[in-house]
Amino acid sequence: SSLLDDECDYLFKTVLIGDSAVGKSNLLSRFAKDEFHLDSKPTIGVEFAYRNIKVGDKMVKAQIWDTAGQERVTFENLRKWLHELREYGNRDMVIVLVGNKTDLVESREVEVRDGQSLAQVEDLCFMETSAKENLNVEDAFLQMITKIF
Ligand code: GTP
Ligand code: MG
Repeated sequence: SSLLDDECDYLFKTVLIGDSAVGKSNLLSRFAKDEFHLDSKPTIGVEFAYRNIKVGDKMVKAQIWDTAGQERVTFENLRKWLHELREYGNRDMVIVLVGNKTDLVESREVEVRDGQSLAQVEDLCFMETSAKENLNVEDAFLQMITKIF
């Protein structure tokens, strides 16, 4: 592809989906630019960013699309999101389930084990992150990229 410059061996296309305000845009800005915004506005339409990452001796260009979520029942809506992915997505796509905002310890509503067991039943990778405190964000994206490999 013309997007693939000379230094890159692969172009991986990835999409962030999920309900509104779960932190998709901040996960992306943390990963792509090491930025976090407390007052970020809801995404309108789609936006995207790139980051080049070295995996072994290969250079991967990750093209990450950020979409607008619309609803606000997050964990409850996961089955709907998964259904849409499996209906419309590529058959060999890699799905990583991310539980964000782990820094908000007092207002946790989903137990780690509930995320883990959903991921196990649905055969997904699972990661809990905090875009705010930069916890596991890099790992979540790297896990996905490594698995695509
Ligand atoms: P849409 O674009 O509407 O789909 O939302 P989004 O999923 O992109 O959420 P966004 O990244 O805009 O974050 C929504 C709010 O949550 C913002 O106020 C962020 O600052 C906040 N936020 C995002 N990630 C975290 C996090 O890890 N911890 C905390 N405490 N707040 C976060
Ligand atoms: Mg957004």
